[in-house]
Amino acid sequence: MANLLVTGGAGFIGVNFVRYWRRSFPQDAVVVLDALTYAGNAASLDGVTEIHFEKGDIRDYDLVVRLLDERAIDTVVHFAAESHVDRSIRGPDAFIDTNVVGTHVLLKAAKAVWLDRGTGRPHRFHHVSTDEVFGSLASDDPAFSETTRYQPNSPYSASKAASDHLVHAYHHTYGLQVTTSNCSNNYGPYQFPEKLIPLFIINALLGKPLPIYGDGGNVRDWLHVEDHCRGIERILHVGRVGECYNIGGGEELPNLAVIDRICTTLDDIFAVRPDLAKQFPSAPAATGKPSAGLKSYVADRKGHDRRYAIDHAKIQRELGYEPLHDFSRGLHETVQWYLDHEPWWRSVMDGSYRDWLAKNYAF
Ligand code: NAD
Ligand code: TYD
Repeated sequence: MANLLVTGGAGFIGVNFVRYWRRSFPQDAVVVLDALTYAGNAASLDGVTEIHFEKGDIRDYDLVVRLLDERAIDTVVHFAAESHVDRSIRGPDAFIDTNVVGTHVLLKAAKAVWLDRGTGRPHRFHHVSTDEVFGSLASDDPAFSETTRYQPNSPYSASKAASDHLVHAYHHTYGLQVTTSNCSNNYGPYQFPEKLIPLFIINALLGKPLPIYGDGGNVRDWLHVEDHCRGIERILHVGRVGECYNIGGGEELPNLAVIDRICTTLDDIFAVRPDLAKQFPSAPAATGKPSAGLKSYVADRKGHDRRYAIDHAKIQRELGYEPLHDFSRGLHETVQWYLDHEPWWRSVMDGSYRDWLAKNYAF
C-alpha cells in the first residue's frame, strides 16, 4: 500500500491520473494538492471517492511539509504546473514561479521530511515533464531519446527544463529517490479548452473560427492521457531511481491532419445524431455543412517549435510500456466526451476565460 501526494490533481492529466489510480489501486491513499488556478477544477474529481483534496500552492513549504507528515506520504507524483505555451509567451513570470520555484519547494520539503531526519524512509518523487525540453526537430531528425540534448525554446519549456535539472540535482547531490518522465502531447477527457484538440472541438460546436497557426504543418506526437497514466504507473512500480523515461503515443501527425480529423469526426457524429443539431445550433454540422469550413489561418506562434517526436524504446524495453490507444479511436472517444460534457466545459470557460479567449482569438 502506498500513500500518494498528487500535485496538480485537479488539472487535465492529474484528474485522469487520480481517477486511473483510484480504479487500479483502491488500497492506496491519494491526497491531491492543487491551487485551483484557471486550469484546475475540483468538480473534475466529482464522483472520485476516498481522496483527500487540499486546496493549496506547491510553493507553500509549510503546507507541503505538513501534508507529507500528516498523511505519511511516501510517493509524490508532481503534475502541478503552468502548462500552456501561448500563455508562457504572453506572461512568463507565472511559469518561473510555479514550474521552477514550486518544484524546488516540493523538493526541499521532500528532502526535509524523507532524508534530513535520517529515518531511511522508502520514498519516491516522480516528476512529470515534457518532450518540449528537447527543442524542435527537423522533418528528418530522429525522435527525441532520453539522451537528446536539452534545448528548450519557449518560456514554458525552459521552465520545465529548469525543473527537470533541479529534480536531477536533488537526486545526485542529496540522494532523493526521484524519477522523471518526459511525455508528448496528451489528449483525452477533462483537457482545458485552450489546447489544440479541445479548443477546436468546442469552437466547431459553437460555430467559431478554428485558428490554425502558421501553415498548420507543425508536427506533434499524440499520447492518450490514459496511456500516459499507465506509463507513470510502470515507472512508479518498476522504474529505476534516478532515471528519466520518455513516454510517447507513437502517433506523429501534422496539425492539419489532426484538425481535419476533428472536423470529420464531428460531421460524422452529427450525421447520425439529429438531436445534436438542437443542442449546438451554431455548429456548421447542425445544418449539414462541413466543420472544416471554420478553418482559419492566423499568424504563427512566436518561436513555434516545428516538430516533436518521442522515441519511447527505453520504457518499452525496460518497463514493458506499450501505448494502447490508437489515435483515430482515441480522438473519436474524446470528441464524444466533449459532446456529452457540455456543462463541464461551459463551467470551466468562466467569464475571465471567455474574456481571455475573446482578446486572444479576436477575428
Ligand atoms: P493543466 O494546466 O491542465 O493543470 C495544471 C494543474 O496544476 C491545475 O489543476 C492547476 O490548478 C495546478 N497548479 C498550477 N499552479 C499550481 C501551484 N502553484 N500549486 C498547486 N497547483 C497548481 O496541466 P496538464 O496538462 O494536466 O499538465 C500536467 C503536467 O504534465 C504539467 O507538469 C505539464 O508540464 C506536463 N505535461 C503536459 C502535457 C500535455 O499535453 N498536457 C504534455 C507534456 C507534459
Ligand atoms: P498546444 O495544444 O498548445 O500544445 P503544444 O504547443 O504544447 O504542442 O498546440 C498543439 C499544436 O497546435 C501546436 O503546434 C500549436 C498548434 N495550435 C494552433 O494551430 N492553434 C491553436 O489555437 C492552438 C491552441 C494550437
